[in-house]
Amino acid sequence: MPVADPRQRALIEGQEAFGPEWRPALVSQAPGRLELLGNHIDYNGGPVLAAAIDRVVVALVDPSGEDGTVSLLASDIDPAVHAIETQPTGDWRLDSGEPAPADYLRGVIAALLSRGVSIVPSARLSVAGNVPPGFGVSSSAALVVALINAVGGDHGLTQREIVLAAQDAEHRCGVPSGTMDQSASVAGDVIAYDGATTTFTILHPDLGPYAFAVADSGVSRSLASSSYPERVKESQEALRLLQQRLTDPPATLAGIMDDQWAQIEAHHDAWLPETLFKRARHVYTECRRVRDGIAAIARRDWPAFGRLMTASGRSSAQDYEISHPRVEEIVAAALTLDGVLGARMMGGGEGGPALILLERAKFDAIRAGLLGGAFPPNTPEDRIQLCTFGPGASVQPATDD
Ligand code: GLA
Repeated sequence: MPVADPRQRALIEGQEAFGPEWRPALVSQAPGRLELLGNHIDYNGGPVLAAAIDRVVVALVDPSGEDGTVSLLASDIDPAVHAIETQPTGDWRLDSGEPAPADYLRGVIAALLSRGVSIVPSARLSVAGNVPPGFGVSSSAALVVALINAVGGDHGLTQREIVLAAQDAEHRCGVPSGTMDQSASVAGDVIAYDGATTTFTILHPDLGPYAFAVADSGVSRSLASSSYPERVKESQEALRLLQQRLTDPPATLAGIMDDQWAQIEAHHDAWLPETLFKRARHVYTECRRVRDGIAAIARRDWPAFGRLMTASGRSSAQDYEISHPRVEEIVAAALTLDGVLGARMMGGGEGGPALILLERAKFDAIRAGLLGGAFPPNTPEDRIQLCTFGPGASVQPATDD
């Protein structure tokens, strides 16, 4: 049985790989995230509600050595140690394929160097996590944020600069993400994120008797190879066409005002191809749902929040056409179960997870109901997990180790 605590596991595996003299001096850790409301809104310049969760990627850093490389062990994924040169990688980009942890480290080093941040001259890192990869809770954003704080020395970057460097690192790996995942990981708790300014405000919502759970469809997808890049392009094209028609044209799709939307609806046959009209309608209605969601959180009206989540998921599936039939089956099954307040697809789409808001006391029954209905026989229970909100990324001396 592998050791469950990721910090302990990173320590044991690090000593195994680097030898008993390996002594981590720093612990850098960063959480995964939930996207509560605001699907595909970050890169459209609108508001998103997201949360850091109690699952983290931990990087233990031993900054000793003089060979000018950062050696990375990410034993959850790959038993090999990868030594990466720190200096010549400033222009690095992944040519093709899915990024491995060592690629994310190359991306991080390149993103930091291009910002004039000095990398630790040499280091040996052991990374482990309990952010389930492929679960759709942004294990890659957590990894990248943890790596920035691990190898960036006293980088002096603000939270927003860390977010932008993390996005840059993912882009260099061919992952065309927005900045919501990284913002949630950096900030902690729940954030009201603003895609127009790439800034966020931290909220401390009281969930009372409710909780969020994630149900993994098992359909794997990656941002790079899914329709995600196509949706980004479609949004840009819809915006370009609308800017030609509207007086006071918005700078982003999320910037469309209510009276402008009324005009777009009245003229949409002439102004936009049907597909682009649907993409724009998702963005317009989703921005309203996020604003309503922020108000619902403020008055602790979680049943209303659940209804907004369900409506969000329908819009993502029908107008943005970014969901997957398996995820929609899970959502539909969840919505029939007692104690479920709302359910929706979450994240990039075309697979990955469903997010469910539920009465915490009924979680076991809801999980059993889902496993008995929407999943194949003998599906392990951990495909459906409760996620509580957690703190944001941190880096501190490894005093206990
Ligand atoms: C992924 C991306 C985010 C965001 C979501 C969809 O998680 O990394 O930037 O666009 O998809 O809302």
